[in-house]
Amino acid sequence: MNDLRNNRDESQEIITLEGSNIKKVKENAKNNPDEFWTACAKNLIWFKEWDQVLDWNYPFAKWFPGGRINASYNCLDKHLTTEIKNKAAFIWEGEDGKTITVTYYQLFTKVNQLANALKKLGIKKGDRVTIYLPMIPELPISMLACARIGAIHSVIFSGFSSQSIIDRVNDAGSKIIITADGGYRRGKTIPLKSIVDEAIKDTPTIEKVIIVKRTFDDVHIGGKDIWYEDIVTEESSYCLSEWNDSNDPLFILYTSGTTGKPKGVVHGSGGYLTHLFNSAKWVFDFTSTDVFFCTADIGWITGHSYVVYAPLMHGVTQILYEGAPDYPNPDRYWKIVEKHGVTILYTTPTALRSYMRYGDKIPNSYDLSSLRLLGTVGEPINPEVWKWYFNVIGKKSCPIVDTWWQTETGGIMIGMCTGIENISMKPGSGTFSLPGIELEIVDEEGLKVENGKKGYLIIKKPWPGMLLSLWNNEERYKKTYWEKVSGSFFAGDFAYLDKDNYTWILGRADDILKVAGHRLGTIELESAFVSHPSIAEAAITSKNDDLKGEAIVAFLVLRKGIESSPHLDAEVNEHIRNTIGPIASTEKIYFVNKLPKTRSGKIMRRLLKSIVNKEAIGDISTLEDEASIEEINYEFNEINKQL
Ligand code: WT7
Repeated sequence: MNDLRNNRDESQEIITLEGSNIKKVKENAKNNPDEFWTACAKNLIWFKEWDQVLDWNYPFAKWFPGGRINASYNCLDKHLTTEIKNKAAFIWEGEDGKTITVTYYQLFTKVNQLANALKKLGIKKGDRVTIYLPMIPELPISMLACARIGAIHSVIFSGFSSQSIIDRVNDAGSKIIITADGGYRRGKTIPLKSIVDEAIKDTPTIEKVIIVKRTFDDVHIGGKDIWYEDIVTEESSYCLSEWNDSNDPLFILYTSGTTGKPKGVVHGSGGYLTHLFNSAKWVFDFTSTDVFFCTADIGWITGHSYVVYAPLMHGVTQILYEGAPDYPNPDRYWKIVEKHGVTILYTTPTALRSYMRYGDKIPNSYDLSSLRLLGTVGEPINPEVWKWYFNVIGKKSCPIVDTWWQTETGGIMIGMCTGIENISMKPGSGTFSLPGIELEIVDEEGLKVENGKKGYLIIKKPWPGMLLSLWNNEERYKKTYWEKVSGSFFAGDFAYLDKDNYTWILGRADDILKVAGHRLGTIELESAFVSHPSIAEAAITSKNDDLKGEAIVAFLVLRKGIESSPHLDAEVNEHIRNTIGPIASTEKIYFVNKLPKTRSGKIMRRLLKSIVNKEAIGDISTLEDEASIEEINYEFNEINKQL
């Protein structure tokens, strides 16, 4: 398989969709944004209408200020007077194949009971609740219960370690953690409760730990622990929805940035939900018979936006799958599509690449004819994988939406609007930005580059789903997103527009890696490496990987007197898995005498990247700030001598 970045096929036109005139919609959004976003916001239920569409106090946007709204009400109560009430909200499938259907009404009841229980535990509007759960119904239930009472949820992906929990809980100042005794992953159990036990030794703000029974393994019960089922069973099944302000935080979601500390991305309700409701309508064009399978874990933004909030607002039926795509066999998604009649599959290039390796025979042995639309997200998709998805999974009759967006953008920003659009697809391109989203590709100086030229992707105008800020860190918010190109949002990705103005995303332009679609900061990884007692210095880069897109490569300098050995290699890898989590598994470790650095002490990560990918070092001088060509050449030779 070729490098994702160099193998673009711009010419292929595969399918044309019928639809209404998107041009008009986009023009209206551009010329009359207030009118346009007002119409979009009116698709939601508001307790009180807003005073203003947008209060833009650069770089802080308040969408629909003065408006009062509740996310849980828009996902649940709204459906109780319609035929959706008794429809499946979630069809949950455990790794062991067990299936549980939760109707909208049942979901409503469970959310209300937990909301009442949280209130009894003293949780009030604005309090933070950390949720560390596997993919079980209690995860969306917990989020919606927080939303109902105006508490701010902070979900931590259940693959993260104790240290990651400590950092995130302390930054958010959470009062409660909702977790489970354990979770299943590839037939093994992950001892979630003991990971939490380890973490709460260092999280002074935590008052209670609520435990859901999932694996029924024995767990240690300490003074702060309470069982989920004990607190909900006696509770009433109605809890009044809090009239949250449109810009009260709905949740914090931590994501990796370019410094050692993860960023707490904060989203509100009014703007965020408006963006989600409408983007989902345009891109997925939900209908009442859809069965939507978004394979993302709810611990990531895709799960927040397109497993929990957007589909529930639309009243669609969703698959909530607990386990891994290849467990017990590399056919699990196809099996689920056939078993539950999935109509829309929204997944990642990494999952598709791993299925593709096993050949066509496996998917061909399942009835996938219920599918009508396919989606991809999280990383660039190679054209050959795109074509496999189109031909083998979609049988040439399902459009593919390649959706670009980020934790920060809240919802989809670039993607074909199958609900309203009539265009040709190009494998590997996300096509165009959604109505109301004004993007541009610019150079170092912030000037627009011509079509065909690579540059930085920026967003020129505020949009409803944009983050409110970073939790407790307005300075970092301004610096990271709004100061690189003055007046615009800096997305951190390289991209270009082709001659037809189609957008092509070329990957991250900063010190962030995308490993199997998961976002990891190089500096965050480096600090995890140097927290190992044998390691003095670390430089992290990535290697192109046929399966994961990118794989982690570490250059490590050992402390004086420590010898490298395969044993140490394994020990260090284990240390990283324990410090960050299994998603940070390292592909290759090089022990070196010294790291390549500029005179001012900056690690030349781009040089290391070129070395591990066997690229020419020709043009990296422009990418390696502050370094001269002589320095780069010198360091290149020095490193190569040691490998
Ligand atoms: C980064 C954001 C979007 C939700 C899941 C990831 C990369 C995302 C695409 C795509 C190429 C993509 C970008 C972006 N990315 N979607 N369709 N094609 N790259 O959210 O963890 O915040 O990561 O994912 O590099 O900046 P995230």
